[in-house]
Amino acid sequence: MNRRNFMLSTSAALASAVAWGKSNTPSAQAAPVAASGSEGSGPPLLFGTDYYPDQTPERLWEQDAVQMAAAGITNVRMAEFAWALMEPAEGQYEFDWLLRSLAILHNHGIAVILGTPSAAPPPWLSAKYPEILMVDEHGMTLSPGARRFTCPSSPAYRELSVAVATRMAKAAAGAPGVIGWQIDNELTLGSSARCYCRSCRTGFQQWLRDRYGSLASLNEKWGTVFWSNTYTDFSQIPVPLPSGAPPNPGLALDYDRYQSAANVEFLELQLAVLRKLCPGQFMTTNNVGLADNIVFRDLYRNLDFAANDNYPGFFAIHQNRNKNGAGAASDAVTTTVSFGHDLMRGFKDGKPFMVMEEQTGKAGQPIFCPQPEPGQLRLWSYQAIAHGAMGINYFRWDTTTFGAEEYWHGMLRHDRSHSPGFDEICATMKELKALGSTALNAPYRAKIALCYDSDSDWAFVIQAGQPDIKYLNELLPWYGSLAASQAGVDIVNADQDLTSYKVVCAPAMYIVKPRQAERIRTFVNQGGTFIAGFRLGVKDQYSRIVNTPLPGLLRDVMGCELDDYEPIYEQDRGVKFSGALSGPDAQCSVWADILTPASASTLATYTNGQYAGKAAITSNSFGGGKAVYVGCHLEPADLGRVLLTLLGAAGLQPLHGLPAGVECTTRESGQQSWTYLLNHTGHTQTARLNGNFREFPGGAPVSGTIDLPPYGVKVLTSA
Ligand code: GAL
Ligand code: ZN
Repeated sequence: MNRRNFMLSTSAALASAVAWGKSNTPSAQAAPVAASGSEGSGPPLLFGTDYYPDQTPERLWEQDAVQMAAAGITNVRMAEFAWALMEPAEGQYEFDWLLRSLAILHNHGIAVILGTPSAAPPPWLSAKYPEILMVDEHGMTLSPGARRFTCPSSPAYRELSVAVATRMAKAAAGAPGVIGWQIDNELTLGSSARCYCRSCRTGFQQWLRDRYGSLASLNEKWGTVFWSNTYTDFSQIPVPLPSGAPPNPGLALDYDRYQSAANVEFLELQLAVLRKLCPGQFMTTNNVGLADNIVFRDLYRNLDFAANDNYPGFFAIHQNRNKNGAGAASDAVTTTVSFGHDLMRGFKDGKPFMVMEEQTGKAGQPIFCPQPEPGQLRLWSYQAIAHGAMGINYFRWDTTTFGAEEYWHGMLRHDRSHSPGFDEICATMKELKALGSTALNAPYRAKIALCYDSDSDWAFVIQAGQPDIKYLNELLPWYGSLAASQAGVDIVNADQDLTSYKVVCAPAMYIVKPRQAERIRTFVNQGGTFIAGFRLGVKDQYSRIVNTPLPGLLRDVMGCELDDYEPIYEQDRGVKFSGALSGPDAQCSVWADILTPASASTLATYTNGQYAGKAAITSNSFGGGKAVYVGCHLEPADLGRVLLTLLGAAGLQPLHGLPAGVECTTRESGQQSWTYLLNHTGHTQTARLNGNFREFPGGAPVSGTIDLPPYGVKVLTSA
């Protein structure tokens, strides 16, 4: 998915996501464990800004640093697009400007994260090495002139990227104040996410050799006998460019995986050099996890922490929500932003992440979103922290008067006066620093896991079945409902140990691999509740459809078999609930899995169409636990009711009484806990607390009800 399609397709998902608190009922659960405290020891605090001395006249650098220090900025990230200044001609390196800038920043106590510049190769480079240019999915070679127009497998591009990163590290890593590195910038997030050039074709063929060992195995796994695709030499294998009809699904999915691997390898070539040259400095890269083009777990595996770029307002413009002046306050946008943060946290198994770029004002390229409402910038910062961030850089320091991002508004305006959000950002940084290192690095508390796997995502892109099925669109409403339980949601790959969770959910788990099935089976056996959505276990890891009754590998756990499945285009199916799910009837659109219970019992049936009377939702006791199959595609409100009822039955009732639009998360470290209450609405809201707390900062005791001002935030520690 490219950058534009990502924005357009998430907007559909956004429109259907469930809002915080919508289906909440207050409950009589125990309050979070005892906590207090603020300051602690730990990694350095990172509250900074994305700074472009390369785009700023040198006479302003000192003044910038003075203002940054006064604003309380601890660090900047810089240089990630400054290749042309660092290597103005091939092999001719100039880092004096960078060192002068570093010295000024250091004099004012500002630390620096350096970005390697490979996202923006200079014109001399693409003129001399045109083979570095990406070929898009239509076979068209991208033109240089913007950024991210590069092929991740190109030997020349790789070599030149490593060379400039090496020289940069040699010149600047030792400069006082340099604390870490960002390698490249948003890999794959350009106008085309995949490259289809000759180098990638050769790389793909080699990757396939390594993966399959023999052509016989590849031909068998892909089923190339279909349409006479049988390959007799690896060099015959094409990349999935237009070919008169859809590609082989196994080939297409493997190509996505190969492109992901090529990007990871591209990054790791730079990483290997930087690790040697910059001991003691951290390494990361930034991205938007929601744009699922790379297996981010692979990308971040050898990096020190994950880093998110977060622009809530930018989502909002693509949803047309700004028409009514609501800005970026819509429920769907805030749900998506929280999901994006949870994804990032999940990429490093719960380790605190950094927001490398956070919106500071009107954001956008050719078009831009409105100025965030007063309070929203603070709210979004707390939202990141509430979901496990440990630091935030505000994008960007100034607002450039030239280039493609003239309208991406920073902390300073075009005339370098303070932006409307400047004071709010400074006050927020001060508050967040006061929270202290222990709170900022405390683990996020999650009792629910939501299974996420790029394989299923990409397989749906290749064969949606029904054009409205998009992986993210399916996951977001589930996420919104689960998060409303206040139990905390971790986004996991089901191939990891799941037994620490109470509930594991798997909507749209189209591909189920043997190890994932085993983890889920063990989880349910040991007493957990597993809730699956439609299209469970349809395909294997080669993107072949399983040749057993569905849901394939999980049939015994679910205690049911699919009688049939049907895409729904015209007439929705009615759904009637029974037993533990008794409640108002609902509609099933988009997709219906028709279930035949074996050991399972029926919790909902279809009421019209040829499958009227057949099961739509079943529940099965398996070992010590329970497995629920939600075969119907429900509207978000109905799905929310179903999921919250099932969570309640699994012992996860909402802790506090929260009105719609108020979000609650908890981070905890040892005996200490921090509960974040976030009011995403533009009006005052009242939360009903369960238990006794102290407000941070100040320590005033709070219990009973608490008011949250418009876009307001409260941080509570245990009394
Ligand atoms: C980010 C990117 C930045 C800048 C910003 C505004 O996604 O990393 O370089 O482009 O968006 O578009
Ligand atoms: Zn390529």
